[in-house]
Amino acid sequence: MAKKAKIHLIAAARPNFMKVAPLMHALHLEDDFEARLIHTGQHYDTNMSQTFFDELGLKTPDFHLEVGSGTHAQQTGRVMMRYEETALNDSPDATIVVGDVNSTAAVAIVCAKLHIPIIHLEAGLRSGDRKMPEEINRIVTDSIADLLWTPSVDGDQNLRKEGIPDARIERVGNIMLDSFELMRARIESDNTSKKIGLLDSNYAVVTLHRPANVDSFDSLSLLVDQLTQVSKKIRFVFPLHPRTRKSLLDLDLLDQLSKNSRIILTEPLSYVQFMNLVSNAKMTITDSGGLQEETTYLGIPCLTLRSSTERPITITQGTNRLVRVEELILRVESILNDEWQLGKCPDLWDGKTAQRCVASLNRFLQLTN
Ligand code: UD1
Repeated sequence: MAKKAKIHLIAAARPNFMKVAPLMHALHLEDDFEARLIHTGQHYDTNMSQTFFDELGLKTPDFHLEVGSGTHAQQTGRVMMRYEETALNDSPDATIVVGDVNSTAAVAIVCAKLHIPIIHLEAGLRSGDRKMPEEINRIVTDSIADLLWTPSVDGDQNLRKEGIPDARIERVGNIMLDSFELMRARIESDNTSKKIGLLDSNYAVVTLHRPANVDSFDSLSLLVDQLTQVSKKIRFVFPLHPRTRKSLLDLDLLDQLSKNSRIILTEPLSYVQFMNLVSNAKMTITDSGGLQEETTYLGIPCLTLRSSTERPITITQGTNRLVRVEELILRVESILNDEWQLGKCPDLWDGKTAQRCVASLNRFLQLTN
């Protein structure tokens, strides 16, 4: 029997898990691959990590690097040191990284120097804002990856502009929606929205965690004031990311939200619970990357509180709009008045991205062997 190709798949932080799960499942169906899961431990709380593993059917990681939190350099450095050791001991034939978190770039750098072929899933996204740590991670990872799997045509164009040869770029579509389709039945039968008292669709879902929005008093207090105005128009549920909860507490802003009966604050939710809430919502207000895509897929209006997005197709084709915090209330009113573009789903956002990745991986390994 021919030797199986050993593939390392890297998972690090919450938004990675729904990108890794469909690919892991698809690789397991293939005889030619031995897929190993590496959790860097960038997210470690149960409700930021293990819950997602359980729900998405991800196996216990073959290696856990337990890097935890820290400054960017500490976190990136710890991933590099610990993954280098793992890669040297385990000798993968190729390593797949996803998204744009610190672990993505750290593992890519290690692989490039050990001459391990590196594949980037969700390549080519650019916000143009180099103040975002994720933008640096994207640029670094894409510049050294051997195969770049993009979600949409703008990703291909960005990579070409940066001089990446066409032969390295393959558009596979949006893997996040594979997870949605994988879990659709459970999401639809889940009753999280009802359990927290949201009996009709007349509510919004709010998520915020970007440093630019939540780390300073000036930006967070303005946001809290605007959200208080929004709550007068529509009730909303706001699952608090650990970074946001800490900031709200430290800056003495939590009470203003928690004492408002039209705002429901929760701990971070599981994937199924969260997508159940989103699927039934009237709108979302967010600074997340993934939610811009999920709402475009579901045709739900999305207000993105950022000055740029690395996912412009959610605006040109989908239901997403960038909004300044000062104009939030106006945009909320537009949605409530049904003045919103319905949008359409971009090409290859069809729940079949993992299959295309596996086919591409097969071709890639034949070429590199
Ligand atoms: C990271 C990613 C970001 C992604 C986000 C999703 C980078 C540069 N950023 O940002 O791209 O959108 O994850 O959540 O990689 N914390 C916990 N428990 C955890 C994890 C973190 O309490 O399980 C705390 C940390 O101690 C820290 C804060 O949350 O105080 C932020 O965590 P960190 O991993 O630094 O970055 P995120 O803001 O989560």
